[in-house]
Amino acid sequence: MIMKISVLGTGNMGKALVKQVAAYVEGQVLWGSRNSAEAAGLAKNFQLDQIVTVSYVEALQADIIIPAFPVSALMDWAQANKEQLKHKIVVDISNPFNDDFSGFTTAWGESSSERLQSLLPESKVIGAFKNTFFKVFENPVFQDQKSDVLVTGDDEEAVLRFIERFKPLPFRFLHAGKLANNRTIERLTLLELELAVRYGTYPYISLQLFGIKEAVLAN
Ligand SMILES: NC(=O)c1ccc[n+]([C@@H]2O[C@H](COP(=O)([O-])OP(=O)(O)OC[C@H]3O[C@@H](n4cnc5c(N)ncnc54)[C@H](OP(=O)(O)O)[C@@H]3O)[C@@H](O)[C@H]2O)c1
Repeated sequence: MIMKISVLGTGNMGKALVKQVAAYVEGQVLWGSRNSAEAAGLAKNFQLDQIVTVSYVEALQADIIIPAFPVSALMDWAQANKEQLKHKIVVDISNPFNDDFSGFTTAWGESSSERLQSLLPESKVIGAFKNTFFKVFENPVFQDQKSDVLVTGDDEEAVLRFIERFKPLPFRFLHAGKLANNRTIERLTLLELELAVRYGTYPYISLQLFGIKEAVLAN
């Protein structure tokens, strides 16, 4: 049985993700928004028949759910939908930026992903796409090398299922261990932002690690 995927939110990351998932992953993708009429208009422009626009409530039917919300809205949504999210894979793409993007709201030694998992103890939280700025989705291959996506999770099977499902996308998915690694992964995004601004490439910046010949998934 094909697992259904939903993307929630029509902001920069919601748009970028829904296009990629619809283009590369088998089956329908449910696209949730507070304003489904607006989402329907956007979906029509993308000309991807696999996108079905829905409300946030309807989007909870999927097995793999990607909320593309600002971090505070993400935590509120998780708390409000804890029951419906039980046993589902919830893909956390969030970075806990403060209002002016100069720093994080989390202390050193904390991560947004671990916080989300603690709010959703019976869901399987997967961290992914945290270092991928939205513009990169338009061209994730730079100088012949794919952008890396660090995938984390405390449920090993869910990590492997996510990678298996998303591997047709033009990124290199690397198993990056447990959710606690997001203490580092999220902070890398803060550094990437500073570098992108310094070198004039914002918002086109992502990770490309070298030395790994191929993604080896076994422990
Ligand atoms: N921007 C990047 O390059 C980037 C890269 C990596 C990770 N991220 C992470 O991805 C997440 C989304 O970032 P983004 O740049 O796509 O944000 P964004 O452009 O501001 O979009 C956020 C979307 O969330 C939805 N939403 C639901 N509840 C909301 C609320 N209370 N307030 C505001 N929006 C609400 C809205 O969609 P509807 O109107 O359709 O409901 C809105 O368009 C963040 O957690 C961010 O840290 C971003």
